[in-house]
Amino acid sequence: MNRIRKITLDEKEIPKQWYNLAADIKVEPFMSPDGPVPPEAWAPVFPMNLVEQEYSTQRWIDIPEGILDILSRWRPSPLHRAYDLEEAIGTPAKIYYKNESLSPAGSHKPNTAVVQAWYNKQFGIEKMTTETGAGQWGSALAFACSIIGLECKVFMVRVSYDQKPYRKLMMQTWGANCVASPSNETQAGRMILEKMPDTPGSLGIAISEAIEAAVTDKSGKTRYSLGSVLNHVMMHQTIIGLEAKKQLQKVGIKKPDVIIGCAGGGSNFAGLSFPFVYDKINGADIDIIPVEPASCPTLTRAPYVYDHGDTAKMTPLVAMHSLGHSFIPPPIHAGGLRYHGMAPLVSKAAVEGLLNPLALHQLECYEAGVLFAKTEGIIPAPETTHAIAAVINEAKKAKEEGKEKVILFNFSGHGLLDLTGYEKYFSGQLTNYDLPESIILENLEEIKDYPRPPVSK
Ligand SMILES: Cc1ncc(COP(=O)(O)O)c(C=O)c1O
Repeated sequence: MNRIRKITLDEKEIPKQWYNLAADIKVEPFMSPDGPVPPEAWAPVFPMNLVEQEYSTQRWIDIPEGILDILSRWRPSPLHRAYDLEEAIGTPAKIYYKNESLSPAGSHKPNTAVVQAWYNKQFGIEKMTTETGAGQWGSALAFACSIIGLECKVFMVRVSYDQKPYRKLMMQTWGANCVASPSNETQAGRMILEKMPDTPGSLGIAISEAIEAAVTDKSGKTRYSLGSVLNHVMMHQTIIGLEAKKQLQKVGIKKPDVIIGCAGGGSNFAGLSFPFVYDKINGADIDIIPVEPASCPTLTRAPYVYDHGDTAKMTPLVAMHSLGHSFIPPPIHAGGLRYHGMAPLVSKAAVEGLLNPLALHQLECYEAGVLFAKTEGIIPAPETTHAIAAVINEAKKAKEEGKEKVILFNFSGHGLLDLTGYEKYFSGQLTNYDLPESIILENLEEIKDYPRPPVSK
């Protein structure tokens, strides 16, 4: 037996710095009607130590010792070689995946949740509010707040709240309070419920509610937390790609040929790929592919514009690919990929031609997820199946071309609490959603007079 299935790192080999792509790609400033938003304007929303990271253009940022200690509960994560999947496809490609499903909450999300909770605690904050789509992020923050000693309030997108009862029980177990969004607890929620009482909800709406709950708290000790999209969140996740680099080197691979990650707000994709985007900027030939659902095609069909990050327009304008802040994606089972926008850094990297985005339908993704479960053994989260479907396509392409490519992807989370989606898939109740161009145009109409970022595509 001389096959190495799992490439592991010692706890001491955990990266000691995060990589910040904002040092190498210029992101446009947040905008308000008065012009660019200065860091101080975020004070009621985020603690200033995290705001400082959000605005930083320093390439490497030290990870504090206290955070390294918490991360070492589940990091470094193993890099697996997917021998059985390769065999099932009959491909000469070598498929590697970072297994982020081994964290306490079952996904990559705790990599930033514990960091954000730690900085909030340092700043004297007592309570954090957030939104969650699939429930992965809400449970990650609930876990983080529990071990760091903060209160936690989660607004969970209605459709996921109904589809995934066990995620809210996880949050409850870790001591968080989780409600379905839109809720009656905020003005934003009440307004939307009045207009659309049966709405499945969206991440955009849940973000509005979570920000409102933080900024209206009179104690001044509550702040909001976002699980994706923002620069500092992308940066916290780069620990994934930095570990992967060391692990590939251990088996003599200088660079992967293809890197793949699913993209909702962009954080797991960024986490794996940004350290390699840095190499690509410096001349490496790597095909870097973010994969999104065809029903919420932000990178593949939406323009690069200025838009609000949330539905009730509580956030300033963000330069990103956006389907419009009022866009409510169809209720697909990959709840974590139902976001109208995309991380500014991922958006800008796409605009600069460093990425090759792809959109896939959910049936193809479930099929890929089932093949992965039957070969590699782990049942993927519906979001993760998007990456797997793209990996399978690339591996088939390598087979046709007879090329021994190295494909690296992010196994962003397991699907043990997402089995309702699998049940619907097996019983033939799931459908693909084709998003008509007219719906995209209708939602973009609302933002047509907003300022445009300098590089408009
Ligand atoms: C398992 C999993 N993968 C991917 C995502 C998408 O988020 P992001 O694009 O920020 O990684 C989510 C979001 O909830 C998730 O739970």
